[in-house]
Amino acid sequence: MSASPSVSVPGSAPRVGVWLIGARGSVATTVVAGCAALTAGLHAPTGMVTETPLFAGVGLPPLASLVFGGHDTTDCALPKRAEALAEGGVLPHGLPEAVTAELAAADAEIRPGGPLPGDTRTPDELISAFTADLQDFVRRRGLTRAVVVNVASTEPAPTDTAPPPSSLYAAAALRAGCPYVNFTPSTGLDHPALASLAESAGVPWAGRDGKTGQTLLRSVLGPMFAQRALTVRAWSGTNLLGGGDGAALADPAAAAAKNAGKERVVTDTLGTAPEGETHIDDVPALGDWKTAWDHIAFDGFLDTRMVLQTTWQGCDSALAAPLVLDLARLLARAHEAGLTGPLPELAFYFKDPAGEAPSALGEQYAALAGFAERLRTGGRDLPTAGAVADGPLPAGPEDGPPAAGRGPGRTPPSGPRRPGGPGPRPVRDPGPRPVRDPGPRPVRDPGPRGEAR
Ligand SMILES: NC(=O)c1ccc[n+]([C@@H]2O[C@H](COP(=O)([O-])OP(=O)(O)OC[C@H]3O[C@@H](n4cnc5c(N)ncnc54)[C@H](O)[C@@H]3O)[C@@H](O)[C@H]2O)c1
Repeated sequence: MSASPSVSVPGSAPRVGVWLIGARGSVATTVVAGCAALTAGLHAPTGMVTETPLFAGVGLPPLASLVFGGHDTTDCALPKRAEALAEGGVLPHGLPEAVTAELAAADAEIRPGGPLPGDTRTPDELISAFTADLQDFVRRRGLTRAVVVNVASTEPAPTDTAPPPSSLYAAAALRAGCPYVNFTPSTGLDHPALASLAESAGVPWAGRDGKTGQTLLRSVLGPMFAQRALTVRAWSGTNLLGGGDGAALADPAAAAAKNAGKERVVTDTLGTAPEGETHIDDVPALGDWKTAWDHIAFDGFLDTRMVLQTTWQGCDSALAAPLVLDLARLLARAHEAGLTGPLPELAFYFKDPAGEAPSALGEQYAALAGFAERLRTGGRDLPTAGAVADGPLPAGPEDGPPAAGRGPGRTPPSGPRRPGGPGPRPVRDPGPRPVRDPGPRPVRDPGPRGEAR
């Protein structure tokens, strides 16, 4: 992180921007506070895959080189937001005070998002405003590049041809020549109106909707049932969560996009669609803690009926933030290496990967390992769809029908996802984590009573 009196930035490390859409939300605040905490050595990088030996020598930007900014439609300052998260046990007590300079520096780089209530700007005017904010950020802070990450509230799928706000931000990222990550189930780049812009922008992009809890587990268990030749008859799931995400997902139209991703992972890994549905309930009392319950009815030898039940209790933002930091670093490095277009090798992180990718976590990890290896060798052999965006900004988006699929203008496959992309590669055992003395640690509240972390 930069602009911090308490954190030393390596003198020669070029600075890389991380532009968060929804920059004042729980996930974004945890990203900024977490990055500052790791940089200052207050905590070990638990949960960050890019900090494992798998990524040694890959040339990822150091955490200390990341500069945060973004858009939001609310004006609650980041230090205050971080205090609220610490009170709820999401951030360790004492951390907001320890990294207050970094939070304030990021807060100073947050610009009003849109559309705001009563906003009369046209979609193209909004895209132009967002693009100008991004370009100003990159220029003013002397950044080599900036990665745009959508962590805004989940929006309902569009019902007409008009690009939703998430797509306006995605268009701005493309116009500004920035790599793009959609960590939410919202439409983002997957709108047909953005297809030609995405083709010509010359930037890499990753998938849609981060895979942090229930779906992560599903992407492990699905292949297990398939490989052991067990017949899954029904797979039902329920999620209880509160916080801003719980409130947004109380809207059935918003929850539909999320549930579709969770169910798709089951179908893709089993190769068939079992009975059962997935539900999300908003339980404000749980705050940022999520309980996800899966009930899997399956048949074994001689059609003997059996059941597996799993209960996942996690802190949503603590699960999501390390993945956002991983993705920002990976996309920045991919952009530096000249990669463009979808990166199916990052399927490991998503419910809905970009491009054709395997759906089992083991294969996704192998693909990620292959990606790390190729980045280490300078990006050789990596597929590219165009040139790196150093030229003039591409034109604005064109009109088109509403989004239906994954990736700009694509329609979803009707059957199971074909494993594709780079294919399985030998997995390198990351080995034991390097031990870092984290020094004195701010105390983390155990969270709501009775909830395991
Ligand atoms: N484990 C996880 O936490 C996880 C996993 C996958 C996906 N996600 C997704 O990440 C997103 C963020 O989750 P959260 O818990 O931080 O939610 P949150 O409600 O705390 O934060 C969302 C932020 O987005 C802002 N926002 C809303 N509309 C906006 C707009 N048009 N422009 C700019 N900003 C806007 C809100 O003001 C808020 O600050 C959600 O979409 C969620 O589904 C989270």
